[in-house]
Amino acid sequence: MKNSLICWLLLLLAGPAALANSDLTPTQLRVEYRTNPFTDEAKPRLSWVLESGRRNQHQSAYRILVASKPELLEAGQADLWDSGKIANDQTAQVVYGGTALTSRQQCFWKIQSWDKEGQPGPWSQSASWEMGLLEAADWKAAWIGKDFAPGTAPVPFKGKELLLPPAPIFRKEVSVGQKLVKARLYITALGLFEFKINGQRIGKDYLAPGWTDYNQRVYYQAYDVTEHLKSGKQVLQARLSYGWYSGYIGYALLVGNPVVRAFYGEVPALKAQLELTYENGQTQTVATGSDWKVSSGGLLESDILHGETYDAREEPENWHLPGYDDSHWEAAEHIATAERQLQLYPAQPVQVTDTLSPGSITERTNGTFIVNLGQNIAGLIRLRVKGKAGDKIVLRFGEMLHPDGRLMVENLRMARATDTYILKGDPEGEEWVPGFTYHGFQYVEVTGFPGTPQKENFTGLVLGSNTPRAGHFETDHPLVNQLYQNIVWTQRANFVDIPTDCPQRDERMGWTGDAQIYGGTSALNMDVAAFFTKWIRDLQDAQWESGAYPDYAPAPSVRSSDTFAPGWMEAGIINPYEMYRAYGDTRIIERSWENMEKFMAFHAKRSGDRYIYPEGSFADLSPKGGYGDWLSIGKKTPPDMLATIYYGYTAQLMAEMAAAIGKSTRALHYQELAGKIKAAFASHYLDETSGKLTTNPKPYGDGSGYVDGHQGFSGHTQTAYANAIYHDFLSKSQQEAAGKHLADLLVANGEKLATGFLGVKQLLPALSATGRSDLAYQLLLTTEYPSWGFEIENGATTIWERWDSYVKDDPEKMESLNAGMNSFSHYAFGSVYEWMFRNMAGIRAELPGYKSFTIAPEIPKKDIHRAQASYQSIHGEILSSWKRSDSSLSLEVVIPVNTRAVVWIPTDDPASVLLDGKSLHEQADISLGNFLDGRQAVVLGSGRYRFEGTLHP
Ligand code: BGC
Repeated sequence: MKNSLICWLLLLLAGPAALANSDLTPTQLRVEYRTNPFTDEAKPRLSWVLESGRRNQHQSAYRILVASKPELLEAGQADLWDSGKIANDQTAQVVYGGTALTSRQQCFWKIQSWDKEGQPGPWSQSASWEMGLLEAADWKAAWIGKDFAPGTAPVPFKGKELLLPPAPIFRKEVSVGQKLVKARLYITALGLFEFKINGQRIGKDYLAPGWTDYNQRVYYQAYDVTEHLKSGKQVLQARLSYGWYSGYIGYALLVGNPVVRAFYGEVPALKAQLELTYENGQTQTVATGSDWKVSSGGLLESDILHGETYDAREEPENWHLPGYDDSHWEAAEHIATAERQLQLYPAQPVQVTDTLSPGSITERTNGTFIVNLGQNIAGLIRLRVKGKAGDKIVLRFGEMLHPDGRLMVENLRMARATDTYILKGDPEGEEWVPGFTYHGFQYVEVTGFPGTPQKENFTGLVLGSNTPRAGHFETDHPLVNQLYQNIVWTQRANFVDIPTDCPQRDERMGWTGDAQIYGGTSALNMDVAAFFTKWIRDLQDAQWESGAYPDYAPAPSVRSSDTFAPGWMEAGIINPYEMYRAYGDTRIIERSWENMEKFMAFHAKRSGDRYIYPEGSFADLSPKGGYGDWLSIGKKTPPDMLATIYYGYTAQLMAEMAAAIGKSTRALHYQELAGKIKAAFASHYLDETSGKLTTNPKPYGDGSGYVDGHQGFSGHTQTAYANAIYHDFLSKSQQEAAGKHLADLLVANGEKLATGFLGVKQLLPALSATGRSDLAYQLLLTTEYPSWGFEIENGATTIWERWDSYVKDDPEKMESLNAGMNSFSHYAFGSVYEWMFRNMAGIRAELPGYKSFTIAPEIPKKDIHRAQASYQSIHGEILSSWKRSDSSLSLEVVIPVNTRAVVWIPTDDPASVLLDGKSLHEQADISLGNFLDGRQAVVLGSGRYRFEGTLHP
């Protein structure tokens, strides 16, 4: 009796919450796509994933409580926001609707959902977020720095000699009082920073604060450092490097650009502010200023592309201890710089996401060793070594070895990619991790190691934006599995703050063509929502006055003749669209809308009222015609045709996005525009009788022309058909004919692909869409050049820029490729995963965010007997897993709570299909759909289902 009274009392105290009668439980609470983040979004969006042990479950209502203190939330006192019971099935992107949030506000939240019968489930665990500094006036800190190379601009290098001044270190002692309850560090740099308190590194982030157009915005990081501070004297330490702000960027050196480094500013600068709150409510702020001390430290050279040189003997001893005498250090200089817009870094930062031990170490001549990590990565080596003071270890990085065992560095072009460590001679041994560089490598050439290096002396640190893993894929076919791993590793190596083209050579730029081709695929592997939120902003910051999006973003003026290119510039439309499709994100559309309209106006102006790109219309652009179907093989698809396809495709996407944000007039406009472009495309490029795609038979005004065959151009290419089919440019009968021409072209080409960047993603889907799944499988599984299999046969652990980047038996060929462009980590051709996921596993979103989706695997008749793809959608885990023998099939699927799927079971005999051992007709909680082309449709609510049945070959 007494106990139950206490229970009742407790329940009453727990506030107005409804009692749990359902097992519907909100989990994975996230704010702006991150867990317990700092944010400066005035109205952040909240998301959760529902779990239930029951099938066919969805949310009929939810209630969110947000409180300023954990105790208040615990007691059900939502002083910031009580949403009340909202009858709605939304579980993602719910916009915070409470009291206006101010700088530094801590928000603790939880959520309860009601199930489809209207029964409440239990409250979620609580989660939190914290607001950053929302007003410019919140910043008290000054930009400080030290110019170690005064007067070197504007001629920063002579010949091939690099200008790599030392990286400054900063020091400040502070007195911390008793009873500290909260401490926050807000920190940023023009350049890159690393911060320590009493010798302990703060945060795990690398390359912070990331690359932006620093003239438009600079991100800062916020850290909870409460645990790092004690009362008494504390030492704040910072190290600063040149980074993208004032270091070397891209291929400027290679092409002899007048500017090769310091694109944004010459002297890096640090801005940091430590805010302390005591139990009695008092606050204390410590901010960077001229009362900080600066010195040169041990980091003698530091550059993202070229690597670092660290002399441990030069590092002041014990500068992390209070009382260290820094009187001989100089006062930090105020760096005069324009006011910058400071914003909180909106994505997962670059971090070490994995470590690898070397597979082998091989001795070469003259005390040189080659360390092989066994996997091509982007990252660093952590060195552990014992030796005498002054011993100098040089690490050079490469992705491949020459056939004679030498490190291959030719493909790095002008990137020095070398890290040097000079020992101080600590008898206990010493450890070093470079702070402000990274390399694309599998092999490390080690020179000067004291003694014989062992595996434990080297650890590979895998570096990249810490985007959470969202997908997994596996089959019983080793080549396909290796291909999938190669795709994922290439993504990990290139999603480094921005989507780069490659991690190794003097480039590493946010090339827009690569990003738009691969954007959709990337979301199947990782949760890239926050990552692309950041980069789409970079893209908009780099939009040209004309409305065109650039070739790469951020876009420092590396090469002034670079303008824009069809299939590249459309990233400005395609990447926001992919975000909308993958995550149901409409805010990204709203925030991109003006930029996107401006871009479409640019298209309209260029193409005129013919809706297609008049031939030669790109002649006044540079490089001429953009990059076309970059790295395609054989005849080239005309640039005007590609431009027209991209124009029509983006018009279509604009119509869909306009509708998604309630702009119905614009939706109609873009719908009509897409129709006109497609009609114009057909009348211009399609031969009605044969159904063939051609170039216009007339040469261009200047006589050069892209007449079929002339200058190697042709409209009758794999890329042309694949695009026309994939982007829905053709009527049903035209599509059928196009499918046949595409298949014929492939057969005539020995069943080999010829597509480049702008055709590779579309090729296999176009074959499947026109009934030639068999050919798609053939392309996927072949090991003959050019193919994914050929790369794997030649030792690839990542996706290469070229199909023949390395040919075991043809060293001469490699020599010629390596001198120019030959990256072994280039994700564009990895966009084939879109087909593997959508067709082989058969998972396809119907509504944005996979609110409803289809599972329709295309099961091959040979070679592969089992395939499984899982995907952590914004609504929860989706799974499609099939297994076949010669006569039977099993298909297991998982449908997240609050979603619905149509599953097409491939069977010639629907009556033979069993679910949980019972025939489909006997199932109460599923509805049967059509039987079409040997497939039975079933409509499923949430749950795990395993179907078994007969498959007739
Ligand atoms: C990059 C590509 C990029 C291209 C433009 C290259 O240097 O590596 O991936 O899209 O330039 O053609």
